[in-house]
Amino acid sequence: MKDLINNYLEEIHSFHPGTSSELEEFRLRFLSKKGILSELFDQFKHLPQEQKKETGRLLNDLKNAAVSKYEQFQEYLKQTAGPISKVSDLSLPGQNIPLSSRHPISIVRKEISEIFSRLGFTIADGPEIEDDWHVFSALNFPPEHPARDMQDTFFIEQKPDILLRTHTSSVQVRVMENTQPPIRMIMPGRVFRNEAISARAHCIFHQVEGLYIDKNVSFADLKQTLLYFAREMFGQNTKVRLRPSFFPFTEPSAEFDVSCTICKGNGCNICKYTGWLEILGCGMVDPNVLSLNGIDPSIYSGYAFGMGIERIAQLTFQVRDLRLYFENDIRFLHQFSPHLHFTY
Ligand code: DAH
Repeated sequence: MKDLINNYLEEIHSFHPGTSSELEEFRLRFLSKKGILSELFDQFKHLPQEQKKETGRLLNDLKNAAVSKYEQFQEYLKQTAGPISKVSDLSLPGQNIPLSSRHPISIVRKEISEIFSRLGFTIADGPEIEDDWHVFSALNFPPEHPARDMQDTFFIEQKPDILLRTHTSSVQVRVMENTQPPIRMIMPGRVFRNEAISARAHCIFHQVEGLYIDKNVSFADLKQTLLYFAREMFGQNTKVRLRPSFFPFTEPSAEFDVSCTICKGNGCNICKYTGWLEILGCGMVDPNVLSLNGIDPSIYSGYAFGMGIERIAQLTFQVRDLRLYFENDIRFLHQFSPHLHFTY
């Protein structure tokens, strides 16, 4: 009988019920009226006197082990609200789900999109893997333009016509080939350039392209739109300026600067003591580009602009090392609670 009791003791020690029906089985097996314990106590009565002392102690140990195992798991299953817990207190607070944070690039992209959507711009997107036509030719890039060089552009080896887009201006072409004016769209997206990765350059980054084509669109419309954008994005006291520039797809072309968001135009090392920060390129859509894409330049005119999201994020969050945006280090990302910057 002692061996039997020892075996049961071992069984009880290694018993770990996962559900309350397993626990109930345990109770029936050991603790019920017809269970193992009452049977053993019955047998115990008929033992010879000299065995009673030791076996009695063992039997008591077995009983205590069974009872405490049962009570322990009954309590445990109640607390963890096991699959069939009968008592669930609905007034208990729910489990905390830790809130994550948005990626800074997403925060800025969303803010840019919201500002332009208040002006009636809608959002379009296009493929990241493109062809020469949409990235270069339809945008009036001459055949020998340096941007077509392998040094700037990732080409697919087997198919020299297929490449990773180097700018979101390719989406302008996609939009124009499918839509007649009026067109008023922004096109956020990821772009790729064959650059060595450093704090100031990356081979992947993000841009937002803008395109507005209608009758009688003028450079003044462009300037007013960009002024509105700059003030919404960087604050109502932001000053802006346009400087003449060149892009194959716009004529005239300009670069657009805002007064330094850090030193407010007084001069600091971010703006290299000029008080100004360049944030985008823009211009009037070249009539050649309109006709290449099936829009009559004698009826319509338009403006376009393109900005880097990382650049705006650098100014907004003052994180200057571009690599951080791509490492996805959770300790970096958790610092961007969207509530600190924008409501959304
Ligand atoms: N695509 C240009 C770039 O990647 C940016 C740009 C400049 C876009 C002028 C435009 C524009 O639409 O009009 O640097």
